[in-house]
Amino acid sequence: MELLFRPMAVADIPEVARIEVDTFSTPWRETTFQSLLERPGVEMWIAEHLPGIIAAYAVLWCIHDEGELANLSVRPALQRRGIGAELLDCVLGVAKERGIKSVYLEVRTSNEAAQTLYTGREFHKVGVRRGYYDHPKEDAWIFVKRLV
Ligand SMILES: CC(C)(COP(=O)(O)OP(=O)(O)OC[C@H]1O[C@@H](n2cnc3c(N)ncnc32)[C@H](O)[C@@H]1OP(=O)(O)O)[C@@H](O)C(=O)NCCC(=O)NCCS
Repeated sequence: MELLFRPMAVADIPEVARIEVDTFSTPWRETTFQSLLERPGVEMWIAEHLPGIIAAYAVLWCIHDEGELANLSVRPALQRRGIGAELLDCVLGVAKERGIKSVYLEVRTSNEAAQTLYTGREFHKVGVRRGYYDHPKEDAWIFVKRLV
């Protein structure tokens, strides 16, 4: 599938928030995306598969030489077509360009799809956060990928 990767814009937020509601049990609000867009050090990226159609989005927080992949989501109807992997590669490239040395993320222990994606991209499990998630309450695995 032909994908276009570009930074998220304010005009994308309503559609991003709709995908967010469809993919997470505790979705971020539109206002969260809006305030992050204004914050330095936050990379927000969109994958478009047709002009104007958002297939997926990702949010990476950069602090000094560490990154935190805070969000990655693919529109449900377009999952399992390689879009999550391609967007992750794009964001890891952006992180490298910014001088990020390690990218961390948390993932629900039951989220096999995401864990398959991350381990396939050489993320390694380094810890657990007990009771990190709500709805349902669940632990998070902490994964990290070294970029250097
Ligand atoms: C997790 C998510 C981003 C994966 O995106 P995707 O575009 O569907 O994944 P891809 O098609 O790029 O597949 C990447 C790998 O994950 C595997 N995978 C994807 N969905 C899977 C599933 N439901 N079960 C098992 N493996 C799965 C693929 O087989 C592929 O593995 P491979 O590289 O060994 O072939 C997507 O399922 C999603 O948006 N989920 C809801 C939000 C979410 O959980 N985000 C992550 C939060 S940490």
